[in-house]
Parts: sequence; structure tokens; C-alpha cells
Amino acid sequence: MAATLKGRSFLKLLDFTPDEIRELLALAADLKAKKKAGVRERKLDGRNIALLFEKPSTRTRCAFTVACIDEGAHPEYLGKSDIQFGKKETVADTARVLGRMFDGIEFRGFAHQTVETLAEYAGVPVWNGLTDDWHPTQFLADVLTMREEFGDLAGQTLAYVGDGRNNVANSLMVGCAKLGMHCRIVSPDTLHPEHDLVAAVEEIAASTGGSLVVTSSVDEGVAGADAIYADVWASMGEEDLIADRIRTLGPYKITEKMMSSTGKSGTIFLHCLPAFHNLDTEVSKQNPGIQEVEDEVFEGPQSRVFDQAENRLHTIKAVMVGTLGN
Ligand code: CP
Ligand code: NVA
Repeated sequence: MAATLKGRSFLKLLDFTPDEIRELLALAADLKAKKKAGVRERKLDGRNIALLFEKPSTRTRCAFTVACIDEGAHPEYLGKSDIQFGKKETVADTARVLGRMFDGIEFRGFAHQTVETLAEYAGVPVWNGLTDDWHPTQFLADVLTMREEFGDLAGQTLAYVGDGRNNVANSLMVGCAKLGMHCRIVSPDTLHPEHDLVAAVEEIAASTGGSLVVTSSVDEGVAGADAIYADVWASMGEEDLIADRIRTLGPYKITEKMMSSTGKSGTIFLHCLPAFHNLDTEVSKQNPGIQEVEDEVFEGPQSRVFDQAENRLHTIKAVMVGTLGN
């Protein structure tokens, strides 16, 4: 493991070089193979890890928890209402307290600045488990899944279709550019990514052989795509925008027809999950038309969403082992 990763926080992909990201992916693949073979190396033996959650989570919380236990660490879940964080105590004070007791801190929440402040004051590695702006551990699982499917990531094309300015889209744009991949953000004009971020990503892509296309045209965006990627149309904290998003994003729903319009028979479907793909959840019953993907695609042969979900475990483990492991 490169010395450059040790002791570092993992807050956003912009902070990491292409080699460092590739190294985390290689470590994730190694840890995955070892887990499957029943080999346990206890690389986080005796460590105590705080898991702070302002927003709910299934995959991220479980991945951090199981990864800790697999590697011999103790995870401590601290939910929004469990601690003084941000209410009776500043983020900086909480960070300094937690840093005296824990060896590493995961944070999921709203403002990205919160995780930056935690990292500034904690004195131990802090890992971003999702903020309004970024979801960097998700990206590692996404591209590990693509690497398992297609091999070398450089030159592969990923088309993200939906809300082009959320945490997942932002992370895909930056991460793909760093790895020399071709990223397409396919969304209506009103949901295109921030101009400054697009400019920064284009500059990165120019140095790696990758590329970025932002388009409102589904046909243009998905042509030649190796993977079509979806996320929910309204992220956590945007619940009051659901009706508006159903109207705006309806034409961007992932359909079997869209999957076949890539012109490639091997195109896979990815989704960070949770996903609306049928009428079987409370929220989808209350909001007809909220489905960002047809059930036939989600459940179909091109879908890799549960491989991707499993890869959250191996990649999050790699982030903790790479930055903190023995
Ligand atoms: N993909 C993802 O972050 O899932 P959770 O919200 O369940 O953690
Ligand atoms: N963009 C989604 C991702 C969930 C994993 C959200 O922030 O709710």
C-alpha cells in the first residue's frame, strides 16, 4: 500500500490521484478475493471506528460495519439523535472529542463542509459516506463492478441518466475522468451539473485520455455506452421536489428500449440503490411515476445492481484498510 494513502481522509475523489484510486480498487479486489477464500488478515485489529449518520443508510452503514468486523475493528453507530453533534456542540468540538477516542470516523450527512470540518479537527482519518455533494465510496464500488465485467477501466463509457447535479453524478464525473473513462451525464437542461465542476472535470479528462459529455439527448448520451447508470430522481433531503422531478425526468426513465439503443449487446445496468423500480414500496405507492427504471431492466439479465451493492463492502473495506490498516 502506497505511503500516500496512510493517515489520509477520504472525502472526495478530487483529492486523490488516478494511481491512488487504482490502488484502492486493486486493494478492494484483493480483499474481496481473500474474503471469498476465507482468509482473514485483521488489518484493523483493535481499532475503534465511529459511524456518524445524519441521513439513513442500508448499504453504507452495513458495509462499514461488516468491513470493520471482518478486519478486527469495533464499529460504533452514532445516529443523528444519539449525540450532541451540531445541536449542543459544534462539529469542530465533536471532531476533537471523537478523534481522542476513535481511530477513524465515517460521516454521512447533508452539508459537505461538515465532513471537511470533521477531517480538519479530528486528527484521525475521516471517510465520506455521502454528503449532498459527493458519494466517493459509491464510485469505487461502481467501477469495481465495471472492471469485473469488462476489465481495464480506461476507455470504457459510462452513461449516467437522471439528476445530473447530485452527489452520485458529481462523483462519477470526477472519478471517471481520473481513470481515463468516458462519462456521459444525460439529464434535462435544468439538472445539468455545475459549470465549474464540468470545467474541472474536462481539465482532468484532458490529462488522462478520458472525456465528459453533458447532454439532454438520451440517444446521444447512451450511444456506445458500456454501462447505463441510474439514481433516484430526488435525493435524500429533496423529498419536496419529487412531483417536479417526476415531470422533468419522466423521459429519462431507464427502459429496455434505452438499454438496447446503446448499440452494444453487453451494456450493463448499474444503480447505487435504493431504487424505485416497481410499486412495492411505501414511497412508490404514494408517488406514481417515481420509478427511474423499469422493473424489466432492474430485474433483467443486464442488471448488475446487487454485485455493485456487494462491492460497497469490499471497496469501503479497502478505504479503511488503505488509510488506517496495519
Ligand atoms: N448506495 C447507498 O449509499 O445506499 P445506502 O443509502 O443504503 O447507504
Ligand atoms: N443521490 C442519492 C444517493 C443515495 C445512495 C441520495 O443522496 O439520496
